[in-house]
Amino acid sequence: MKDKAIKIACIGAGNVGATAAQYCLELELGNVVLCDIVEGLPQGKALDMTQAGPIRGYGSLCTGTNDYADIAGADLVIVTAGLPRKPGMTRLDLLEKNGMIISGICEAIKTQAPDSTVIIVTNPLDVMAWLAYQKLGFPKNRVLGMAGCLDSARMSAFIAMELNVSMKNINTMVLGSHGDTMVPLPSYTTVSGVPITELMTPDRLEALIARTRDGGGEIVRLLKTGSAYYAPAAGAVRMAQAILRNEQQLLPCAALLEGEYGLSDVFVGVPCILGQNGIERIQPLKLTDDEQTALEASAAEVREGIEGLRSLGVL
Ligand code: APR
Repeated sequence: MKDKAIKIACIGAGNVGATAAQYCLELELGNVVLCDIVEGLPQGKALDMTQAGPIRGYGSLCTGTNDYADIAGADLVIVTAGLPRKPGMTRLDLLEKNGMIISGICEAIKTQAPDSTVIIVTNPLDVMAWLAYQKLGFPKNRVLGMAGCLDSARMSAFIAMELNVSMKNINTMVLGSHGDTMVPLPSYTTVSGVPITELMTPDRLEALIARTRDGGGEIVRLLKTGSAYYAPAAGAVRMAQAILRNEQQLLPCAALLEGEYGLSDVFVGVPCILGQNGIERIQPLKLTDDEQTALEASAAEVREGIEGLRSLGVL
């Protein structure tokens, strides 16, 4: 690793971006630059988080900015900037708006932080990760999308609640795109090594899988305004930690596929080993025919989004 302090840029200082910044500081992963287009917002949140440091016991610094030049030399960039889907807005409208935002941000990252590893969180994130990969021109190991960590964490939490056991020793693996077509893998789900199928009935497991698929929607309905941010930010920072600390952790992430799992030219969630080079490698897993079919359907949905971007002229 290098001599100078690690620099993390969080682009977007909204709910997910600011929470990601806070988790990075708490873990002392590095100094954080919080960047947003709204004047005062990143500066205010950064100052507030810095002032929490002496109480929470972290020494990392957080600065806020509206100037992309301040992300210069960042080692890792977490992108959460974007618009939520508002009433009356079609999927294509959202693609266009967030596509334009991601394109602009990638231009800045390319100039200011050409050696960084980039984690895309902005939805629809598999499509946005694809767009970022095209715009950045970085090697594929340095462009990732977050979601598998979030979807797997949601499934783990639901299993813990159902079985009344600790969340700590639950292992889950959710592949595919972040949305209705995600692919939870019961055969790779264990509680302290015990297969999940020995701990609950198929009906209950199906119900928890359905709840996982609807995980984001359930929170949107409860909040009424806005969407989930603690767990999405935690997912992004889990990936950042694995990369910045060279952990060689196996985590599900959206990655560019070039033949792995029989898929090409698409970003979709697969198990990745994360370390100092970003995605060190994609881990092959044996899937059942049904799981493989579901993964292909999920990739097809991401491809539709990519075609949408092309039709809008964003790509
Ligand atoms: N550069 C920097 N920041 C921007 C830009 C831009 N070009 N465009 C928008 N933003 C900022 C907004 O000003 C806002 O502060 O992005 C922030 C988004 O924050 P929120 O609206 O609070 O959204 P959040 O809940 O954080 O979600 C962000 O993550 O999980 C996904 O679906 C979610 O796509 C959404 C993203």
